[in-house]
Amino acid sequence: MAARQGGGAHGCPALPLANGRSIPVLGLGTSHQGGYSHDAVVYALQKCGIHHIDTAKRYGCESLLQKAIKDSGVKREDLWITTKLWHSDYGYENTKKACLESCRRLGVEYLDLYLIHWPDAHVSGKSNREVRAETWRAMEELYEKGLCRSIGVSNFLISHLEQLEEDCVVIPHVNQVEYHPFQRPQELVDYCRSKNIVFEGYCPLAKGEALTHPTIIQLAKKYGRTPAQICIRWSIQNGVVTIPKSTRAERIQENCKVFDFNLREEDMEFLNAMNVNRKGFLSPLKRDNDQTLL
Ligand SMILES: NC(=O)c1ccc[n+]([C@@H]2O[C@H](COP(=O)([O-])OP(=O)(O)OC[C@H]3O[C@@H](n4cnc5c(N)ncnc54)[C@H](OP(=O)(O)O)[C@@H]3O)[C@@H](O)[C@H]2O)c1
Repeated sequence: MAARQGGGAHGCPALPLANGRSIPVLGLGTSHQGGYSHDAVVYALQKCGIHHIDTAKRYGCESLLQKAIKDSGVKREDLWITTKLWHSDYGYENTKKACLESCRRLGVEYLDLYLIHWPDAHVSGKSNREVRAETWRAMEELYEKGLCRSIGVSNFLISHLEQLEEDCVVIPHVNQVEYHPFQRPQELVDYCRSKNIVFEGYCPLAKGEALTHPTIIQLAKKYGRTPAQICIRWSIQNGVVTIPKSTRAERIQENCKVFDFNLREEDMEFLNAMNVNRKGFLSPLKRDNDQTLL
């Protein structure tokens, strides 16, 4: 997948989506875990040139982001905003309503990317597959109307993507899944690419755990970089959209200085070989055989 120059963070490139749009390869994560910092988001937008923000209804900070975006002075058209639909809003009508509510909280008229947050639906009397299909039909409508300029999924395994393709019309533009040196689901990455679905990785620092691993520290010393920069560079060099989260300005600055060096092929292979399928924290990747996910 060829990268395009996308402006933004220190020469941050953008990856083309199947619908002709391009997503900046580096974004700023937000989350309900680990807090939220207004000043850090404003700093990221104003001083680091980060113009891609990843959030979700679940994280509870959409309204706070509206204020940060306004205070940053960055124009809407210069931003890429991703948010996610939480499972309590799955279903055809609820999805459309939830999207409008997210837009209202974020203070925007459209989303750049709207994702179904999880494959599990938790609706009694209906299969997960049925609920995902109804939900996706609403997503397709939001996409056709231009309220969502791209639509996608998160935490979907190959089986979920295959079912969605059978049940619906628009193939998701993006699948956002856990991706860091301990968790590199290459089969899923390859499947997504074969379907022209851009693979986006979350928890690029393994929530900070990767930063104390001896191999990462060793490579950081070799390149004169920090462990976080090694993890982020590795993910980006593997062609993965990468969204580290930090609530601290100096770390955000550090995390976006990743476009002025390359990891050598042998070091990429070394990092690729670290995968232990740790299947992190919440990820459904760790439940491949769990029938309740179907
Ligand atoms: N789709 C999904 O289901 C899903 C699930 C999880 C996450 N996500 C998305 O992915 C984003 C990133 O994931 P994440 O926040 O879970 O994990 P992460 O980005 O791997 O790690 C974040 C942690 O690392 C610390 N950190 C960040 N930069 C650092 C640096 N340069 N040096 C040392 N420590 C650093 C942060 O602490 P400080 O804040 O103190 O710097 C925070 O504790 C989220 O914000 C969210 O947008 C999506």
